[in-house]
Amino acid sequence: MRFFINLLRPSSARSLSIQIAKTIRKSAELIDGKKIAGDMRKVLKREIEEWVQNNNTRPPSLVAVLVGEDPASQKYVHFKMNAAKEVGITSKTINLNTSITEEELLDIVNKLNQDETVDGILVQLPLPEHVSERKICNAVDPQKDVDGFHLNNIGKLCVNKDTLIPCTALAVVELIKRSKIETFGKNVVVCGRSKNVGLPIAMLLHSDYREELPGMEATVTICHRNTPREELIYFAKRADIIISATGVVNLITPDMVKPGACVIDVGITRIKVDGKTRVVGDVDFEGVSKIAGHITPVPGGVGPMTVTMLMKNTFQAAQCLKAST
Ligand SMILES: NC(=O)c1ccc[n+]([C@@H]2O[C@H](COP(=O)([O-])OP(=O)(O)OC[C@H]3O[C@@H](n4cnc5c(N)ncnc54)[C@H](O)[C@@H]3O)[C@@H](O)[C@H]2O)c1
Repeated sequence: MRFFINLLRPSSARSLSIQIAKTIRKSAELIDGKKIAGDMRKVLKREIEEWVQNNNTRPPSLVAVLVGEDPASQKYVHFKMNAAKEVGITSKTINLNTSITEEELLDIVNKLNQDETVDGILVQLPLPEHVSERKICNAVDPQKDVDGFHLNNIGKLCVNKDTLIPCTALAVVELIKRSKIETFGKNVVVCGRSKNVGLPIAMLLHSDYREELPGMEATVTICHRNTPREELIYFAKRADIIISATGVVNLITPDMVKPGACVIDVGITRIKVDGKTRVVGDVDFEGVSKIAGHITPVPGGVGPMTVTMLMKNTFQAAQCLKAST
């Protein structure tokens, strides 16, 4: 009896309805980047085999330049080389000492530019402080620039021209498309404005469908380290899609997510838990997955897709170079 009396009290009714809502609310649908990447790699492998056969040519080839012994960079290059093998791209890593000068590195890049057996060149970032990353990225032949970091390629992206586009941006778009998330006229918040990650994501998301790039046609707001937290919350709460690429752990919390929104976590941060290293993203995954409609995990979300898009870019570069000979 007391239970029913309590039910009639507004505050009790409210707390009961929250309880019920909590129990019946479905968790967000997981966007399984690892699975999608695996499926894409199988298709890509077939496409590459066919292209090699039909053109009576060698397989596409990728060279990674790795300066120093940063464990994270070593790991990323290792993943990239494995993926290349998986899809039938020949690959090689050039390991260099951190003491290498900018001139020496430029010389290596120039030799790779001129090497007709190389289709794709990637210089793993970050580089040592005494080497200008911008200079090195600009030294890579734009046609072999599979990371899409050369100014020519960034410029083309900014004017919606088809080109080699940074892999993480391609990965985010591919995940959104394959999850059938509508972007046309929708509100998107991109957290992070770096030239290699946040900016290209934002460029692709608001691209015009009447031009050469995949027109995503969203209304995009870019937030960055100097966006006040309350402004970030204001924009995030109105967003149909939140893409976070900052490396700030727990930047995106449940209170700032619109119910049903799609949340794409690009961030990668290594933290120590009980003496063990764990990789986490920018999003409070557990909390946000109770509110969002779709969510990417970390690891297993954007990461494997980024590597897959690198393989697609390498194949694209090989096709373009072959066509121009
Ligand atoms: N999953 C992948 O495939 C992949 C690929 C590349 C980078 N990453 C990860 O993405 C993250 C970003 O990479 P990056 O190279 O752009 O890093 P970066 O350090 O160059 O840029 C970080 C960005 O975050 C913004 N930022 C910092 N604090 C913020 C805040 N409180 N609110 C909003 N924005 C804030 C900064 O303004 C900056 O634009 C890193 O964690 C990186 O490891 C993941």
